[in-house]
Amino acid sequence: MKNRSARKFKTGEAMAGFAAGLFEKALTKKNGKFTVALSGGRTPALLFKKLAAMPLPWDRVIFFLADERLVPVSSRDSNFGTARRALFSKIKIPPANLRPVKTAASYERELLSETAPSNRLDFVFLGLGADGHTASIFPGSAAEKSEKLALAITAPRGVRPEHRLTLTPKALERARTVVMMAAGPAKKKVFELAVRGDKKIPAGRLAPRGEFHLLFAEKE
Ligand code: 6PG
Repeated sequence: MKNRSARKFKTGEAMAGFAAGLFEKALTKKNGKFTVALSGGRTPALLFKKLAAMPLPWDRVIFFLADERLVPVSSRDSNFGTARRALFSKIKIPPANLRPVKTAASYERELLSETAPSNRLDFVFLGLGADGHTASIFPGSAAEKSEKLALAITAPRGVRPEHRLTLTPKALERARTVVMMAAGPAKKKVFELAVRGDKKIPAGRLAPRGEFHLLFAEKE
């Protein structure tokens, strides 16, 4: 797995700075349109803060989501709403570059049209759940075997919000660069499994074909 690299950081701040640097490097290396899918959850908060302060060519960037909870964008549970508050509202970006989720079918069409002809996202940020899920690819999820690029799923019992849309491994594994981030002692063990590519968890079964950076911060 020579395309895979793992790094540990003392703080979430240091991890976010490194992740933002990876994004800047990939964006400035490529001319023209740059497509990125953002992770949901809490971990990316420091990353969004770093990115919001960086003078990057945002007008070239098309923002997708790696997964979304099917709630109103105004809800605190909305990944798009979180990214809009923390990042999109702080950078100069044409509204047309922002791609909130509507339906799985329409998201797949938008992904294909924005990534044509390669159909590869340029960059993906992913989180890691304590149960080894990433995006909304939960253990036993139909998303893992799906030929689709985006799928509507119901999260396992007890996981809220339950109705979600997720990019599938088929969409994520073809991305040019994938950065998976986890923070805090509760994620240490599952992060090690993901680094080893342990097939017991969805994050371990995910096999990106491009650059795959796995980042862990001891402290959130
Ligand atoms: C989501 C995320 C999910 C998240 C992990 C980690 O929409 O919930 O995409 O995969 O990244 O559950 O969440 P935290 O960053 O909040 O720990």
